[in-house]
Amino acid sequence: MNILILGSGGREHALTWAVKQNPKCDKLIVAPGNAGIAAIAECADLDILDGGAVARFAEEEAIDFVIVGPEAPLAEGVADRLREAGLLVFGPSKDAARLEASKSFTKEICDAANAPTAGYGHFTDAEAAKDHVRKNGAPTVVKADGLAAGKGVIVAMDEQTALDAIDDMFGGAFGGAGAEVVIEEFMEGEEASLFVLVDGEDVLSIGTAQDHKRVGEGDTGPNTGGMGAYSPAPVLSAAIEEKAMEEIVKPTMKAMADRGMPYQGVLYAGLMIKDGQPRLVEYNVRFGDPECQVLMLRLGGQVLDLLQATAEGRLKEAQVNWADDHAITVVMAANGYPGSYEKGTEIKGLDALPEDSKNMAFHAGTKAADGKTLATGGRVLNITARGDDLQEARDRAYAMVDQIDWPEGFVRRDIGWRAL
Ligand code: AMP
Ligand code: GLY
Repeated sequence: MNILILGSGGREHALTWAVKQNPKCDKLIVAPGNAGIAAIAECADLDILDGGAVARFAEEEAIDFVIVGPEAPLAEGVADRLREAGLLVFGPSKDAARLEASKSFTKEICDAANAPTAGYGHFTDAEAAKDHVRKNGAPTVVKADGLAAGKGVIVAMDEQTALDAIDDMFGGAFGGAGAEVVIEEFMEGEEASLFVLVDGEDVLSIGTAQDHKRVGEGDTGPNTGGMGAYSPAPVLSAAIEEKAMEEIVKPTMKAMADRGMPYQGVLYAGLMIKDGQPRLVEYNVRFGDPECQVLMLRLGGQVLDLLQATAEGRLKEAQVNWADDHAITVVMAANGYPGSYEKGTEIKGLDALPEDSKNMAFHAGTKAADGKTLATGGRVLNITARGDDLQEARDRAYAMVDQIDWPEGFVRRDIGWRAL
């Protein structure tokens, strides 16, 4: 089978690594890829937001299966364009991708499905939004409706912060994404994520994870794309996972099918858990990054069979073969991240790292130049390890971190603390 994976982050490096383990995988191309991916697959310089260009490339390369990594091409309708060209694709249609691309759409679907989530109001003008905040008070959560690269959510502990956030959003701080705003009830509890494959009709859980969004130890400081993650998430017990599937995931997937927009791909359900009850915080229409890295290390080569069964509508016959294991990933980021940081610094010591089914250094923002590995992004490496328990996985991951020589980078030393 000839496979094309779209994307360039640690998530796509992990997907590439897992897919490649499967003996069914023949040719494997990643567009655009990164330095880590280039070491295990062919990389192609393609504009992955241009569905026509991706379809032409796939035809030229005799691709049988396209796996879409990030949300942006999905929200642009790239999966639709590829399916029109007759390709087998893993990833939702543009319509179904609104579960991530529009917060108000997701709220409407949850209403239709009677799925537990935060109460909300949806506003297209600032004054009405502010009246709502003045009436309901703080804490509250102000969200830009559209895609804002994870930055369009302000958790406001006081009323003034919420009012200022509304002004910022309607003032254009998030471009078109903030032209509509959702204001939500603040939910207390512990957050965890559930990853589910959906083939339009059937659903299959492929694991749980928790990430660390804040840049600083003890979960302090500004939000980031994620500084580390681990799987499974102990707070998402089998009983709570079952509740989340029956009360949230299955009813919302049925509501999507009822509206003529069946969902196909991975559904990432961000959940808030309190007193044994899960409520939906948000849906994403792709794997989490860095959550994907821990899921891939746990699942390995069977991932290709699972993604293919999803795309072919055969999930009913699919099953996950679990090892009773734990995985953790520690993000190495450039000093200064999530603020400004230097680019092009050299990372040494990567060649000496173990790379096997228990230890992987996935690349998120790197480039190879003159035999060196250079950091090109904020989040640069995802040092990922597996073990019989979380402590063993964690010890392995930090042992790898300590072998890497990159003075211009940093890690959080407490990934997994909540679970340990
Ligand atoms: P989102 O992009 O919707 O996941 O929001 C980003 C983060 O904001 C979430 O991971 C939560 O930590 C927090 N958040 C979002 N909505 C709520 C809510 N209604 N109550 C409490 N925290 C929230
Ligand atoms: N790690 C959070 C996300 O991928 O959205």
